[in-house]
Formats: sequence, C-alpha cells, structure tokens
Amino acid sequence: MYTEKVMDHFKNPRNMGEIEDASGVGTVGNAKCGDIMRVFLKIEGDVIEDVKFKTFGCGAAVATSSMATELVKGKTIKEAMLVTNKAVMEALDGLPPVKVHCSLLAEEAIHAALWDYAKKNGIVIDGLEEPKEDIGEEEIPEEE
Ligand code: FES
Repeated sequence: MYTEKVMDHFKNPRNMGEIEDASGVGTVGNAKCGDIMRVFLKIEGDVIEDVKFKTFGCGAAVATSSMATELVKGKTIKEAMLVTNKAVMEALDGLPPVKVHCSLLAEEAIHAALWDYAKKNGIVIDGLEEPKEDIGEEEIPEEE
C-alpha cells in the first residue's frame, strides 16, 4: 500500500527533533484526525539553514514531514513556498488517497513556522497566508 520511499522516510525519518534557537516555530493540528505537527526553522538571510520537526501523527505524517523538511532545507523562503503537499507526495511516489490529509500537516506547519518568522521580523512573505490556527505551545506527546 505504501511506496518504498514512504516506508524509507517512515522508518528513517530525516530532520526529526527540535531547534533550540529557532527563527520560527509553527504548530498545527489536523482537523481530520486531531494529530499534531510542529516545525522549527533556522533562517539566515532568506535561506532555510536548518529545519526539524516533531509530530504526534501517523506514519504517513512522519514520512511526508521527513520529505518536506528535506525539500525545504537549504532553500530560500521563496523556493520553500513552492513545496506544497502535492510536491511532497510526488517526491514520495504517491500516498494512498485516505492518507492525503496527513501530508497537509507538513505543509501547514512549515507555513506556520514561516509566518512566525515573518511576524517576529516584521516582514511579508509573498503568498503566505496566516495559519488557520497555530496551536502554539501545546505539548506534543513523546512517541513511544
Ligand atoms: Fe493523522 Fe495521518 S492519520 S496525520
């Protein structure tokens, strides 16, 4: 049911963790399943130097976040804005239709983190909309 790439990113997630002195942090919830995703960005100039994520989400959420963080790392903010959940799914060779909503978490959390960065620095990022809800400091339970 899952592609090899999805299984690889699920079993060996890239960029999982936290960034202590992040430039922007975004936390979003998935309206469909209630799962949570938090993304930390370290931005220098307008380049995303580092990115990490933490999630209380399913395997597809882990795999899509892992791939999404790989796709935005080292990119400019403008390039990162082009990393949609569709682009992430394509990079993973697809997701089962019932899991498409999981891939939205990564895109939305990256956007929420960019929003946080823009707000803190008084800048406007073209095409970036205010996150529907940033659930802020809510604790993300540690995965077992
Ligand atoms: Fe919740 Fe996949 S089922 S993120």
